Amino acid sequence: MNYYIGIDIGTSSTKSVVFDEKGVALFDSTYEYDLLTPNPGWAEQRPNDWFNATINTLKDIAKKYPIIKGIGLSGQMHGLVLLDKNDNVLRNSIIWCDNRAFKEKEEIESVIGKNRIKEITGNEAMAPFTLAKLLWVKNNEPDIYNKIDKVMLPKDYIRYMLTGEFKTEYSDASGMQMVDIYNKCFSKEILDAFGFKEEWFPTLQESYEISGYLKPIIRNLVGFNSQTFIVGGAGDQAAAAIGSGIINPTDISVVLGSSGVVFNPIKKEQINPNLPVQVFMHAMPDTYHIMGVTNGCGLSYKWYKENLCDYEIEKARIENKPIYEVLNDEASNSKPGANGLLYLPYLNGERTPHNDPYATGVFIGIRQSTTKNDFTRAILEGVSYSLRDCYEMLDKKKYNVYVSGGGAKGQLWREIIASNLKTPLYRIEQSEGGALGVAILAMVAAGDYPSIEEACKAIIRVKDKTNPNLLDYEIYDMQYETFKKCYESLKDFFKNK
Ligand code: XUL
Repeated sequence: MNYYIGIDIGTSSTKSVVFDEKGVALFDSTYEYDLLTPNPGWAEQRPNDWFNATINTLKDIAKKYPIIKGIGLSGQMHGLVLLDKNDNVLRNSIIWCDNRAFKEKEEIESVIGKNRIKEITGNEAMAPFTLAKLLWVKNNEPDIYNKIDKVMLPKDYIRYMLTGEFKTEYSDASGMQMVDIYNKCFSKEILDAFGFKEEWFPTLQESYEISGYLKPIIRNLVGFNSQTFIVGGAGDQAAAAIGSGIINPTDISVVLGSSGVVFNPIKKEQINPNLPVQVFMHAMPDTYHIMGVTNGCGLSYKWYKENLCDYEIEKARIENKPIYEVLNDEASNSKPGANGLLYLPYLNGERTPHNDPYATGVFIGIRQSTTKNDFTRAILEGVSYSLRDCYEMLDKKKYNVYVSGGGAKGQLWREIIASNLKTPLYRIEQSEGGALGVAILAMVAAGDYPSIEEACKAIIRVKDKTNPNLLDYEIYDMQYETFKKCYESLKDFFKNK
């Protein structure tokens, strides 16, 4: 029996899961770390925290499974990791939900051109993408900028530390906004326009190709007795899609993670540049995907829990229940529409559909009668309206919609989303998402399956279906219209405050 590991380098933690070659999860280990917010709109993490968390998870695994055939890496996308020529990390990573580079977004538009940047990278210039962040370092931290020797993404830093290989793969790299996604290479036009050196950037490869083997020093440190390879892996959304079997244009993955995502695989010739969605490469050869992203999905619920829910945290402790179960119960004691309370989940600006780094979170509609239950429900509903914004961007074909991510455990949240999208939501049996996705890539690299498609067919099974509730359509439709109007009324205020 071959054993594989999927390592998911997320925003709140790194989780590593061991699978057998049939895709059955056997053991997992998770270590958390901080999200640093040194200034409003900023979000940073320490690459060393990801590395320590990864090593700790592998040590836990090695005690039970010391012989591992292959590893896949899934990672939070768009982060900027900078190393000097001695491989020292030059500054904290500026991560995916950081919006400081709003001026640089405009600089990209004026230097490259609004249309041209989209022609090359598939996307409008965006503050949270790696290009704008690297430009921000150039404009604001010249001492650091002058020492740059390598530029990489979060999971590729872990690959570099574990194998010594300076490589990336197309799905994650296409989120840097420096890759020509149609010619599958770093764009010389973009790099030259800003004076970035080509040698700073990693070699590109396919997601299922082996990029290297664990260094002997790492094998000894964690306690593996095997020559373990690491495959390219994928950005977290492409990884979660593979791990949910989302490989066909008729399928959609809705992921309720730190960010909220609506993801649809697509072939190159189907890409419609007029749709205001993001376009990246999938973790399968010559496949792309379009995606809508709301920045503050799980991050909204986490922020609410951490800042406004001391009572619920204590209740969860006394009743020995997971905190999000207590919060979900509370939300179900309110009613559809949260008694008129609306939440705009723009804690970290917003990507789809507004591409607005200035937007902030808002509660609107508080009355004397508003209760805590309404606030909790408004969080779930506000994120759902934002996901509906993403879904409405697609071209309204009939899709099979699969939901995954931590938030998908909550029945109520699934019901709210199903009723907003007016479609059933399927959940698959395996809940390991991105970790399973990249372990599947390793299984294909090892030859256990002839292709990603065959592996998904053999491994992934549907578990349940959440139906939309017809009775709720009217109230959600009304609230959704108000939600959209709120943003329109507030956007100048966001920009000028
Ligand atoms: C996708 C995105 C997020 C992050 C963190 O474009 O920004 O999914 O990768 O999860």
